[in-house]
Amino acid sequence: MRFEITPSTLGDASVTVPGDKSVSHRALMLGSIATGRTEVSGFLAGEDCLATLAAMRALGVDIQQPSATQMSIEGVGLHGLQAATNALDLGNSGTAMRLMAGLLSGQRFNSVLTGDESLNGRPMGRIITPLTKMGAAVEGDCDGTPPLQIAGGLHLHGIHYDLPMASAQVKSAVLLAGLYADGVTSVTEPAVTRDHTERMLGSMGVAVSSDNGRISLQGGQTLQGCDVRVPADLSSAAFVMLAAIVAEKADILITNVGVNPTRTGVIDILQSMGAEIELMNPQLLGEEPVADIRVRSSQLHGGSVDPELVSLAIDEFPVLFVAAAAASGRTEFSGIGELRVKESDRIAAMSEGLRVLGIQVDESDDGAVVHGGRFSGGVVQGHGDHRIAMALAIAGTIAEDVVVVNDVAAVDTSFPGFCDCLASTGADIRRVEEG
Ligand code: S3P
Repeated sequence: MRFEITPSTLGDASVTVPGDKSVSHRALMLGSIATGRTEVSGFLAGEDCLATLAAMRALGVDIQQPSATQMSIEGVGLHGLQAATNALDLGNSGTAMRLMAGLLSGQRFNSVLTGDESLNGRPMGRIITPLTKMGAAVEGDCDGTPPLQIAGGLHLHGIHYDLPMASAQVKSAVLLAGLYADGVTSVTEPAVTRDHTERMLGSMGVAVSSDNGRISLQGGQTLQGCDVRVPADLSSAAFVMLAAIVAEKADILITNVGVNPTRTGVIDILQSMGAEIELMNPQLLGEEPVADIRVRSSQLHGGSVDPELVSLAIDEFPVLFVAAAAASGRTEFSGIGELRVKESDRIAAMSEGLRVLGIQVDESDDGAVVHGGRFSGGVVQGHGDHRIAMALAIAGTIAEDVVVVNDVAAVDTSFPGFCDCLASTGADIRRVEEG
């Protein structure tokens, strides 16, 4: 599948984007091991979260789906999951695999986790190390990649773990295993990462403390099912924000978007580059802050992106690379090495795509310098990575000629309806099935 984007004139619009991927995964996993029912609304019916849904069902949980974005989960309690008959296939989702590995380490039965080609090439040593220290037995291939064999029936004990990298997935895996461990499990992280696990555990009645950067919980606490209202995903909204910012004259409102401060680095970085972004109507949806985001076309300028903001904007670098390419001057990104182990090597994939469109990018191991310029037309590759495909598609809206983005099917993992949503702002984008 490919996108064909013709240079477009965006206008004024109000749009909604699908539910938050991170929150949707956690609602399914935590709702499943809670006592009582969890009703989820605003669920992201994207392939990644549907893989988690299938996995929780395969583990014996009754989950009804009254509509595409609603889930009704009959929690089985902390010890009520049952062995799956087959390996659990988590598709493209690193979040599903790493969090499930934590959760399944504490069960009485064995499990096997696998994924697609991209996921089966991603590093799992980062969760195997702390889970092993807790007494779990998790084994990957010889290079630490999936499939993962997880032994059940082991006795887990609480540990303190200093995360070597800023990763909410690793933090969450350790905390979920910690629910099944004796004593206290705690982590410290080198930089703040998204805290959806801590917030949702809190709203389900688990005491999670956060003190001076040390996040801890006592094992054995039971979760109480609750209503989870999932905010719209800021990481998806970011593509629409980018489209509005780089357009000649657009004014776009994106409603009900999650603005948890552990996720809003993209807003801070774009504002520091001159983007006009306004948060309106702030509210709380349960434990998660939301707002409507108004974005207007702006003149962007380059600069050095604050490395302190990297973990708060970790999924938005494809968007930020395109913003940098549309900005005047050069933009320097540093401390972004984690991008090399996402769904694709995002530094390489974005550098390659932008170069095809006539932008100069100087890559380094953990950074890049993007030189602002004008996008030519061209044929670029999505590398099977949803965020690469969407970011390059937005570049196409302001290119001098048609841009074709190949290999874009993965967009359905996080942003089903991306093309229609973008088209509703005035963008001229077509999704073409191959063959
Ligand atoms: C996620 C954490 C981040 C992010 C991913 C979702 C999560 O990964 O990139 O899209 O839901 O916990 P890392 O924790 O590996 O940085």
